[in-house]
Amino acid sequence: MLDTTVDSEVLAEAVRLACRAPSLHNSQPWRWVAERGRLDLYLEPDRAVHGDQSAREALISCGAVLDHLRVAMAAAGWTADIERFPDAANSEHLASIGFTASDRVTDLQGRFAGAILARRTDRLPLLAPSNWAQFLTVLHASVSGQVRLRVLDDELRGSLVEASELTEALRLYDSSYHAELGWWTAPFEVYDGIPASALISAEESDRVDIGRTFPVTRNSQRRVEVGNDHAKIVLLSTATDQPGDALACGEALSTVLLECTMAGLATCPVTHLTEVPEGRALLAGLVGSDDLPQILIRVGGAPALEKAPAPTPRRPLAEVLQLRD
Ligand SMILES: Cc1cc2nc3c(=O)[nH]c(=O)nc-3n(C[C@H](O)[C@H](O)[C@H](O)COP(=O)(O)O)c2cc1C
Repeated sequence: MLDTTVDSEVLAEAVRLACRAPSLHNSQPWRWVAERGRLDLYLEPDRAVHGDQSAREALISCGAVLDHLRVAMAAAGWTADIERFPDAANSEHLASIGFTASDRVTDLQGRFAGAILARRTDRLPLLAPSNWAQFLTVLHASVSGQVRLRVLDDELRGSLVEASELTEALRLYDSSYHAELGWWTAPFEVYDGIPASALISAEESDRVDIGRTFPVTRNSQRRVEVGNDHAKIVLLSTATDQPGDALACGEALSTVLLECTMAGLATCPVTHLTEVPEGRALLAGLVGSDDLPQILIRVGGAPALEKAPAPTPRRPLAEVLQLRD
């Protein structure tokens, strides 16, 4: 096995690819530093969504970018050795990563990296996923450690919809929540936020019973043939609510989304339910567990011949990566 220092260009390209990771409202609350063949990942608290007061969802987003980076480097022939929270005096220093040259890059590692570019958040109604029973084995095997993955029984759908509606009702008059949603979906941001092309119209939203209510767009009715949403609902949860749990949850989110993408499935993270204590309690009650629900993911099919919208924008590399060597 070779043990050389990785070039800064390789690190830069891997960071560029990793930054395709999902983040709450496309806030991209991360910052990278490359120095002498190593990478360090920091939380950017100023970019965290204000309503995300404990930065839990910012940490989930950072966990996703961290795992995307591991995947990108594996496809470039480097194995990541990740130390999480390496500086007890700095809670924003999330990871310090060294790399070892690997003997070879497997097809699977290449496909994982390819899935980073193919993945996107799909908010439209989804078809029931095909080959779900076989895929469940893959899905369950993809998550381990402190994060638990559950697939909600279809019979729970009605109760889940009620919990979703209750959560939205609780925030109906929360003007700061709605102002912030408006800000992250405003058309003038170039590098962050959710573009109109990724949002859905009021009619389309009516067919997705478990989705966050975003400001609506004027898109015509798409996926009429799909009718109402038939996605399966996956829940990631943890026993405690420490920063390390959220980071691990984000890493698991990345793996789940990439596995789904490789299986040809469409995905949409859903977190309005886990953002208010009442929603979290209702969800925990539904699945009959003391675990703390962190994030839901709708998983389903999209019509094969449909044209995907342009990828959502990302901050320029120079803004998120500092090269120190
Ligand atoms: C922690 C977290 C929470 C999210 N919550 C939601 C949500 O409630 N509803 C939704 O439609 N998308 C949600 N997303 C998806 C982001 O909006 C999406 O990743 C971002 O806009 C970038 O778009 P992309 O995933 O298509 O690249 C969430 C993503 C993360 C990481």
